[in-house]
Amino acid sequence: MKNNSLLNTDIKEIEKFLGADNINNLSGKTILLCGAGGFLGRYFVELVAHLNSSKDRSPITLIAVDNFITEPTATHLSDTPNNITFHKMDIINGIHFDFDIDYIIHAAGIASPFYYAKYPMETMEVATIGTKNLLELAVAKNVEGFMFFSSSEIYGDPDPKEVPTDEAYRGNVSCLGPRACYDESKRLGETMARVYHTHYGVPTKIVRPFNVYGPGMNQNDYRVVPDFINRTLSDKPLKIYKPGTQTRTFCYATDSINGFIRVLLKGVPGEPYNIGNDSPEITIQDLADTLESVAGHPIAKSFVEHPDVYPGDEPIRRCPNIKKANIHVGYHPQVSLKEGLTRSLNWASENYEFKEKR
Ligand SMILES: NC(=O)c1ccc[n+]([C@@H]2O[C@H](COP(=O)([O-])OP(=O)(O)OC[C@H]3O[C@@H](n4cnc5c(N)ncnc54)[C@H](O)[C@@H]3O)[C@@H](O)[C@H]2O)c1
Repeated sequence: MKNNSLLNTDIKEIEKFLGADNINNLSGKTILLCGAGGFLGRYFVELVAHLNSSKDRSPITLIAVDNFITEPTATHLSDTPNNITFHKMDIINGIHFDFDIDYIIHAAGIASPFYYAKYPMETMEVATIGTKNLLELAVAKNVEGFMFFSSSEIYGDPDPKEVPTDEAYRGNVSCLGPRACYDESKRLGETMARVYHTHYGVPTKIVRPFNVYGPGMNQNDYRVVPDFINRTLSDKPLKIYKPGTQTRTFCYATDSINGFIRVLLKGVPGEPYNIGNDSPEITIQDLADTLESVAGHPIAKSFVEHPDVYPGDEPIRRCPNIKKANIHVGYHPQVSLKEGLTRSLNWASENYEFKEKR
């Protein structure tokens, strides 16, 4: 049985990227983490477990919440160390705790296009009703910080003049397209985070992640990096959705977690921050070629139309301008794409399950 732990070296890398000051600001605090069973949530869980193993600081108390809608087989929270408790809960149904809470991290969501096409109602509700429930809790607990995970998808398909895209760009989003349940509900979630700041003084911070990837992504996640890696390890051709010239930049998990925590602690309340990598901006075809060079052997590729289960209407270009996060919170990504893909591929080869011998 595989334990699916993340890379210990990655958790230590996040600690290094954050630095002692940021970590000290978290020590002794109580954090409510929603979406703890997901890809990014588990980095927070393992980071806190690692930080709590030090005798030099007061431990962080972490309340980890998830409903496991997209992670029904997740096992990594079943055996949690001291000061971390797990609650299976759906934040759409309301949330209440008797104890004090210092920070709320709202990373619950349905992030993979495959799953938001499958669960459009739940996708809209977690980003809107779920967000409102957590913001109400933030008011009641008078929290020091609240972080809403929005998405680069709120920009939709940006005007090429707006790429790299900064936070002031208003977006080019369809309210009726196949991605609308995700994009539009994240947009409303951001509005709520802003209003709860201006009306109730909640120190809300908004992060807009741009294609974060790394170890810990579910084998059946269907986002492009784990999908390509899963196919590479299964000796299946990579399916590149046409035209294949759509561009993205990819951000390794350790860089992104550093950015998220910096925004939580130092971001300006009510403000959004792009968290991603501003280079290289590459086509999906280039991503397949880079993975091939990392794997060290030829990989078959086929160009296909979007299947019915995967929403089309993809942005043609996606690349963040990250100057705001750099200037406000000192964020700068450091892990190269080749290095991140190497770590991801190696982790998946140890942790993904394959019926047939590779
Ligand atoms: N990873 C990225 O590149 C990326 C990019 C843009 C936005 N985001 C956003 O960041 C957040 C975390 O992303 P991720 O990659 O870890 O996604 P993920 O899908 O791996 O994890 C999200 C977790 O939220 C849980 N969840 C969903 N609905 C819930 C509910 N109603 N109650 C409780 N838990 C619920 C899911 O079970 C899952 O474990 C999401 O909100 C996502 O939309 C991520």
